[in-house]
Amino acid sequence: MAAFACTCPNEQAGCTTAECDQAAQQLRAWAARCAGFFTQETNPGARVHIGRGGRFGHGYRRGRARSPVVTAGYNAPSYWTGLAPRARVPCFVVTTAKTAKSTKTVLSGIQPTGEPHLGNYLGALRWWVDFQDRYDAFYCVVDLHALTVPGDPEVLSKATLTMATFLLACGLDPERCTLFVQSHVHEHAELTWLLECSASMGELARMTQFKDKTSKGGEEAARLGFFAYPVLMAADILLYNADLVPVGDDQRQHLELTRDLAQRWNTRYGETFTIPEAAIAPAGGGARIMDLQDPVHKMSKSSGSDAGLIFLLDDPKVIERKVKRAVTDLDPPGPGAVRWDPKGKPGVSNLLELLAALKGGKPAEIAAGYESYGRLKADAAEAAIETLRPLQDRYRELAQEPASVRAVLAEGAVRASEVASRTLERAQAAIGLLPF
Ligand code: AMP
Ligand code: TRP
Repeated sequence: MAAFACTCPNEQAGCTTAECDQAAQQLRAWAARCAGFFTQETNPGARVHIGRGGRFGHGYRRGRARSPVVTAGYNAPSYWTGLAPRARVPCFVVTTAKTAKSTKTVLSGIQPTGEPHLGNYLGALRWWVDFQDRYDAFYCVVDLHALTVPGDPEVLSKATLTMATFLLACGLDPERCTLFVQSHVHEHAELTWLLECSASMGELARMTQFKDKTSKGGEEAARLGFFAYPVLMAADILLYNADLVPVGDDQRQHLELTRDLAQRWNTRYGETFTIPEAAIAPAGGGARIMDLQDPVHKMSKSSGSDAGLIFLLDDPKVIERKVKRAVTDLDPPGPGAVRWDPKGKPGVSNLLELLAALKGGKPAEIAAGYESYGRLKADAAEAAIETLRPLQDRYRELAQEPASVRAVLAEGAVRASEVASRTLERAQAAIGLLPF
């Protein structure tokens, strides 16, 4: 599958330091793992060139829109490079051919409710970052979704900007993807109505998220928008003709509904929508990170306590404490106690999945290297801290520049509307609305 050649680790600077050699080896390993990424199909004639360079990352790429340069280094997220995130590796990787994206389109969204947590990052956001180089990618902060539950209007607008800042800090790059706020593109609400008029009460009442949440709060009190929310999500996806939707495992059923709605529409009114597919991490790969205090339930912003959640901005000491206090399973440590068994040993399995998703590898194989819960916890905490550190640094920088973040969102909304308005017009014509 490898479609490129790695060349001359030290060519550019003629550097012979051990640090540089080691970094070059690590980058070669990274490049090998990315073999599926830089195929000849998506990137004809690609060569991965490993060279020595200075500081790069977000700033480095600015002004080089769609340039043929792909970089990896100490600023790059560690799940991407496989390097220790704080290892100040003075190297970069350059493809000599233009990284042509596949013609597929990706869309995903995240609600601006609360600070994102490690579950969001591992289950969804790191894939968003990865996909922006492979596909035509649209990502939105879904503020209309946040209206489905009670909330404070002032908090919502701040949280929307904060979430967009987080997404940029995670590595979304406005030159490589379209980042926007859902309510800035009015077509989302309009297509929702058309889709609602072809969805049934029965199919929405079967959504487990609605059933779970209303079993606690009562159906009577639930907002109509909360009941209908999966249709808004379907509109988000269908407006952009998305082929792939990177989400965590909890969204699987909503994706199925989206597919059903699109297929039914196409049959009733003629070919209008692309049928999307969910892109969910493989089992054990971070698709469902569990609450550290309650490992049979997913890590969730709506959990009653913060003790089982690692937030992306948590201080290293806080992360260490939360992971140390994570619930492990009842059998005593010793040979065989650390094993991958999500049903029988949910606490330990969750820590293994965290470690696997953060550092690469399979949870069952990682388990073989541990006998004590303590060491497993220490390693999981360290991996989380090291992954989040560069992201936290970037967040703090970007949070000082709210006007730049808003400018990114404004430009994103314009780009998103171009696509969304065409799809909405097609849908309006198909369902028989008189053209304006
Ligand atoms: P939300 O915070 O509900 O808007 O979710 C944003 C994205 O994160 C969605 O794609 C979810 O599927 C994903 N996600 C949320 N919680 C988790 C979790 N505990 N593990 C993995 N993915 C998650
Ligand atoms: N419903 C998703 C969640 O709660 C968020 C979301 C809204 C979404 N619209 C979307 C995800 C479109 C993917 C695609 O996590």
